[in-house]
Amino acid sequence: MRIVRTAAALRDALAPARAAGRTTGLVPTMGAFHAGHRALMEAARERCDVVVVSLFVNPTQFGPGEDLAAYPRDEDRDAAIAAGEGVDLLFVPPAAEIYPDGFATTVRVRGPLTETLEGAARGPGHFDGVTTVVARLFALTRPDVAFFGAKDAQQALVVHQMTQDLGLGMEIDVRPTVREPDGLAASSRNAHLSAEDRVRALALPRGIAAARAALAAGERDPAQVAAHARAAMAEHDVAPEYLAIVSPDDLSPLAEIDGDVLVAVAARIGPTRLIDNDRIDPARLGQEQSRPVNRAAATR
Ligand code: PAJ
Repeated sequence: MRIVRTAAALRDALAPARAAGRTTGLVPTMGAFHAGHRALMEAARERCDVVVVSLFVNPTQFGPGEDLAAYPRDEDRDAAIAAGEGVDLLFVPPAAEIYPDGFATTVRVRGPLTETLEGAARGPGHFDGVTTVVARLFALTRPDVAFFGAKDAQQALVVHQMTQDLGLGMEIDVRPTVREPDGLAASSRNAHLSAEDRVRALALPRGIAAARAALAAGERDPAQVAAHARAAMAEHDVAPEYLAIVSPDDLSPLAEIDGDVLVAVAARIGPTRLIDNDRIDPARLGQEQSRPVNRAAATR
């Protein structure tokens, strides 16, 4: 695996493969690799000839007072993990390489997709930061396929919308959320949890499991489904920042449930803010187990 730090070095490294018609896969990340990142690297390795992972803690997607300074950073550890996953190129740009002097462009997806859930909670600037950096990474790498995690379901929808609207042409491949054995979604931010908060963090997957159980029992009123989820979270002494039962396609609120739903939740566990979600098809519930399934891990 090669580590490259400049746009020019990335372009030069990719040129021969591109000329030979080989496919390129990109996994954009902010580092602090865990099983979720590794699953995306594996997917890229399976599908593409050349695998590029970008590691850039993007300042513009963090709001004032968010955890930019505290975000975990360990390039050597990340490089070892990426190499172990068969990554070809690790792109680790300094901020000036992504946002050179005079950089004046913002890529903004407007509308409900960026204004609800994380957009409402973190402010509209969050997704502007995400789409601008992802557009920049797409332009530098020009991948055939870019890999994203369902853990950040809204981010994946927003990036997909941007890619479609701008006609960028790359495929957005969204992979299932990877979970710890007890159901907690893998996250770089889990490293910040105290032992006590690690237990309380189970409020998120347990809340989703309660929503799933209510749907399995035939509940079709979104407010009631949400109430079950909130009650399960309260047992862990956690009140969600938001808990929403929405359309998985456009995140619009549902008046009643007659198809797939996305249960999306955000909560502060002590100083750490966590998010989780699950897409549920109520018609297929029944014999399935009633907590978020470790699907990706189970198939590995
Ligand atoms: P980061 O949080 O590092 O996540 C990188 C990718 O890993 C994202 O696509 C995210 O959805 C995915 N991911 C995180 N946890 C996961 C899990 N438990 N299972 C499966 N996939 C998981 O998301 C970002 O970085 C940034 O916003 C970025 C897209 C890189 C733009 O700066």
